[in-house]
Amino acid sequence: MTSYIGTATSRIDGRDKVTGTARYAAEFGAPDLAYASLVTSPIARGRLKRLDVTAALKVQGVITVLSHQNRPSMADNDKAYKDQVAPRNGSPFRPLYDDGIKFSGQPVAVVLAEDLETASYAASLVHVAYDEEPHVTDITRQRYNGMALKAPAKPRGDATKAFSESDARHEADYFVPIEHHNPMELYASTAIWNDGRITVYDKTQGVQNVHGYLCGVFECDPGDIRVMSPYVGGAFGSGLRPPFQVALAVLAARAISRSVRLVLTRQQMYAIGYRPAMIQRIQLGAKADGSLNAISHDAVTSTSEYEDFHRNETTWSSLLYRSETAKYDHKLVRLDLPTGCDMRAPSAATGVYALEAAMDELAEALKMDPIELRLKCYSDRDQSNGLPFSSKNLRECYRQGAETFGWSRRNPAPRSMREGHEFIGWGMATGVWEALQMPIAVRIALTSNGHAEVSCATADIGTGTYTIMAQVAADMLGLPLEAISIKLGDSTLPQAPVEGGSWMAASVSNGIVTTSQAIRDDLLKLAQRLPGSPLKGRSGDEVVLANGAIALKTDGRDATAIADVMRSAGIDRIEREERTTFAKDDAHAHNTHSAIFAEVRVDEDIGVIRVTRVVSAVAAGRILNLKTARSQIMGGVVWGMGMALHEETLIDHRFGRMMNANIAEYHVPVNADVHDVDVIFVDEQDEFVNPMGIKGLGEIGIVGVPAAIANAVYHATGVRVRDLPITLDKLTRTS
Ligand code: MOS
Repeated sequence: MTSYIGTATSRIDGRDKVTGTARYAAEFGAPDLAYASLVTSPIARGRLKRLDVTAALKVQGVITVLSHQNRPSMADNDKAYKDQVAPRNGSPFRPLYDDGIKFSGQPVAVVLAEDLETASYAASLVHVAYDEEPHVTDITRQRYNGMALKAPAKPRGDATKAFSESDARHEADYFVPIEHHNPMELYASTAIWNDGRITVYDKTQGVQNVHGYLCGVFECDPGDIRVMSPYVGGAFGSGLRPPFQVALAVLAARAISRSVRLVLTRQQMYAIGYRPAMIQRIQLGAKADGSLNAISHDAVTSTSEYEDFHRNETTWSSLLYRSETAKYDHKLVRLDLPTGCDMRAPSAATGVYALEAAMDELAEALKMDPIELRLKCYSDRDQSNGLPFSSKNLRECYRQGAETFGWSRRNPAPRSMREGHEFIGWGMATGVWEALQMPIAVRIALTSNGHAEVSCATADIGTGTYTIMAQVAADMLGLPLEAISIKLGDSTLPQAPVEGGSWMAASVSNGIVTTSQAIRDDLLKLAQRLPGSPLKGRSGDEVVLANGAIALKTDGRDATAIADVMRSAGIDRIEREERTTFAKDDAHAHNTHSAIFAEVRVDEDIGVIRVTRVVSAVAAGRILNLKTARSQIMGGVVWGMGMALHEETLIDHRFGRMMNANIAEYHVPVNADVHDVDVIFVDEQDEFVNPMGIKGLGEIGIVGVPAAIANAVYHATGVRVRDLPITLDKLTRTS
């Protein structure tokens, strides 16, 4: 039954990707293609006063310049602009809608020309005058001016009193700066005009979300727009909401009745979502034996002036550890910036960073081993609601991770381990994420030549969705992997949610199981009509599709070839589309967990930090593909290194403008920064989370990594830097 599920299967789209056959949004074209280039606002808040396009229009090859003054019509109500993942409160940004300026980098005009160079040159000739208004972009100045949000969990007991009575206490602020996704593929949309109908090739995590948005914004029929996204060159959350370039590409195509391509520059991409900056205050109080008696987690996060985007950083403190008392507080600060958005493990990458760095500091105060402290507070129930976990093998993550890493050889004293001119530091942390699934529809067409086409409007954002879909379908239909073809990334395919939240592997795999079972039942009915069929009187549950045949589960010898079943019925194709919803399991909490161990080496004179080893032990239910799963976790670990040591979007608050909007000055880890990364998947069977026991892997890989590295840096140097990223100037300044 499981020849492919669980194996290390190479990506079925790998060859197309490395040979350049796989086409991305900006690589589609049309004979009449026009090129768009943006004019963007240098001010952070105010109004556009005057727009002079005379010089731009004089350039040969320029078709037109669009602005709010001459654009085609767009919907005039907020609802039309609310995509599936838009924040509930607020008014989504409407590109080129009116003269209002809400953030630096906002598009104010689109130049259309016969080629890209002409469009970019003409854009530089558009003169814009603004009425500037005062802006605020610094979260640290607004820390006490936030609006209170409803805490995700109820407080327990009197945490203030318990904290004051604790044997050991730790209290500190942890800062996370704005971080940008910086996917390799630029945000791009190619709108192919076809007699009033438009096919948009877009870089997105959800074609149907973009489709619904565009139909709303341009008030057109669903059949007038089709959104395609066969391949995505990284998105990490930045492709969950439709970015402004997709609306502008379609707007432009409608304006000139031609096909239009709009690719943002790396700099322009910084005006679309990012991980919001935040200040978190953590208080932990414990008894002398290490049992927690008080947790308090206050988060101040930022959003734009026009939408209330936030996730719940404090959720993770409220569920993870046993504590007698607890309280949570979250305030949201408005800044004159574009609205932030989800970025890999939104709220957990940040919230767990603060919690797990604080736990390390508490362990130090208690003179306790960091793992021992976590085991002392280990909980088999979600502390926020008392529900047992559907499965939680975090204990085994600690054990296997520690053993592989060699944790028992750690000398607990800071600055005690060294080699040559480098201090060596070993740190660890816990990771946690949710295990979710969403309603989804899957169509399967099985043909008598032994081929199956599986289609669903999901995305493959680089995570390996094409491959796991083929693996699950091959096993469920009893066919070789090569006999399965996958269609996704097309808004006309069966319904799928956006690919995010680590829910797609569980959603689409269980969806394939449901539809495969419908196909199996159809085949069973046909097979039962054959004279002398051994399957007579049997139900679907008793039979299996394997090796191109339908057979009794208990006795493979009575197998009848699927091709024979279909031939005798006189059909050469069975097609089914089924929708899968998931029974609500209110009796359990559903989470993935991990234990991260990191080794850093820090130059004792100049503070240069190298992350030389990371072991990540993950408990995430059933692993569908060991190879792509390992890659997901490795990617998360590398990003966690970036979060700990490199990544930071810097704003010049005088202008409200992002200063390092390029990948030369926005630092991310490169190959030379990444050494040994060891991924362990701890066995975890889960019979409650969903029928396949899949929990998802996209996000858990990053969670805990920044804290493990920060804790290792402290252990190496004796210097605790709580403001990310831990750059060498902070290390040497405070030491
Ligand atoms: Mo993920 S941040 O939901 O793409």
